[in-house]
Amino acid sequence: MSTSEQRPLGERRGKRGVFRTKSVEQSIRDTEEPEHALKKSLTALDLTVFGVGVVIGTGIFVLTGKVAKENAGPSVALAFVLGGIVCGLAALCYAEFASTVPVAGSAYTFSYASLGELPAWIIGWDLILELALGCAVVSVGWSGYIQSLMDNVGWHLPVALQGTHEGRFGFDLLACILVLVLTSILVLGMKLSSRVTAVVVAVKVTVVLIVIIVGAFFITGSNYEPFIPKSQGTTAGSDIQAPLIQLMFGFSPSNFGIMGIFSAAAVVFFAFIGFDIVATAAEETRNPQRDVPRGILGSLAICTLLYVAVSVVVTGMQKYTELSTDAPLADAFKATGHPFWAGLISFGAAVGLTTVCMILLLGQSRVFFAMSRDGLLPRIFSRVHPKYGTPYRSTILLGVVVAVLAGFTSIDVLAELVNIGTLFAFVVVALGVVILRRTRPDLPRAFRTPLVPVVPILSVLASLWLMLNLTAETWLRFAVWMVVGVVVYFVYGRQHSRVP
Ligand code: ALA
Repeated sequence: MSTSEQRPLGERRGKRGVFRTKSVEQSIRDTEEPEHALKKSLTALDLTVFGVGVVIGTGIFVLTGKVAKENAGPSVALAFVLGGIVCGLAALCYAEFASTVPVAGSAYTFSYASLGELPAWIIGWDLILELALGCAVVSVGWSGYIQSLMDNVGWHLPVALQGTHEGRFGFDLLACILVLVLTSILVLGMKLSSRVTAVVVAVKVTVVLIVIIVGAFFITGSNYEPFIPKSQGTTAGSDIQAPLIQLMFGFSPSNFGIMGIFSAAAVVFFAFIGFDIVATAAEETRNPQRDVPRGILGSLAICTLLYVAVSVVVTGMQKYTELSTDAPLADAFKATGHPFWAGLISFGAAVGLTTVCMILLLGQSRVFFAMSRDGLLPRIFSRVHPKYGTPYRSTILLGVVVAVLAGFTSIDVLAELVNIGTLFAFVVVALGVVILRRTRPDLPRAFRTPLVPVVPILSVLASLWLMLNLTAETWLRFAVWMVVGVVVYFVYGRQHSRVP
């Protein structure tokens, strides 16, 4: 849209203060400034590959076993179905937004257009948490798989460089190196990164299909009994480690049973994270109005099917009480006497986790880029590289921060923090769809969320429900991060915002 075109009423009607909105037209115009413009090279297929590349990762390769063993037993498959439904509702809202506001920054940009600057900042800050910690968590998982493969051939890193295990501190050298290498690939350009991704995604999907097809031959029916194990009180940990919902309603903390399926869903939700990141690449897509919704919904549908199938097969191969929590898919094959398949699966998982990290890094640098382009973070971070056309400064800055985080991080707690951050973004996006329909009914929407406001409202309720099933401790950590964010906004962003 050119600046000379007459601006519609909604665009002119600006609000002052922290709820001022940035019009959709302005967001699109900003992407056309030559010094801050990203290259448009991606297609619907690239986006779906990106989606599957980031979605299938630690969630299915690691968390399935842990959650089946500790929260849900064989009914972990139902937890994946629930996770898929919550994400499906959110995906329908993301798709409408991404097709209306095809600008880097995803939920951040959407909320700037609909809810105002402070909510947008909060979401941007929240997405940085989601993506940075998500990447750190996955890179540590990757390092674990590589170290276990190295052990097989007798190579060992010095203990101090193996990462933190069971309370013993160590720097995770491999995780740190992985993040730095991926950062360099991203600086060199999107097209290169999507090619690398395509190959890795093929390996990863093949491995998942092997688990499903080969594993199906090793299922023992009795492992499914009981499908939903009886609810059991937990003794471990203090109250703060119980799901918030159980504390709110005065239940004594428990695992398994129906409530166990919900707590399991809140954790395996991590396995779905990433389809929303497809929206962050909207600006680099040739035909975003058509292709972004296809990329988002397509990757989510493929992943949900694979997850449910994998969890059914794995809990059928081995009794849930015996599943391993580090490498459950590979170990189920070892336990049924098939070490060859186990090795192949470990290898595929290690290869597959690299793309998850890369795309989380990509999404994060794009959110940071968009916030910097708007002046909410220093503008120097939104200059694109003269030759590669990538936001290299934000990519390098965040890459180094995540590499250091990955070196010092241990997985468990952070995965829940990533989930709560993502679910919070889902809530805001769903509300944003309803608000933008009212404030800007005139905008062209290539994809429309069906049954508005019913679907967005269901999406808000479903996301809130999963959030309540996360632990009180996670809520506390999340609140601290958000308070810090609000302080940064009032100290820096508010004064430097480019929106008048
Ligand atoms: N969905 C991604 C994973 O499971 C983040 O690793």
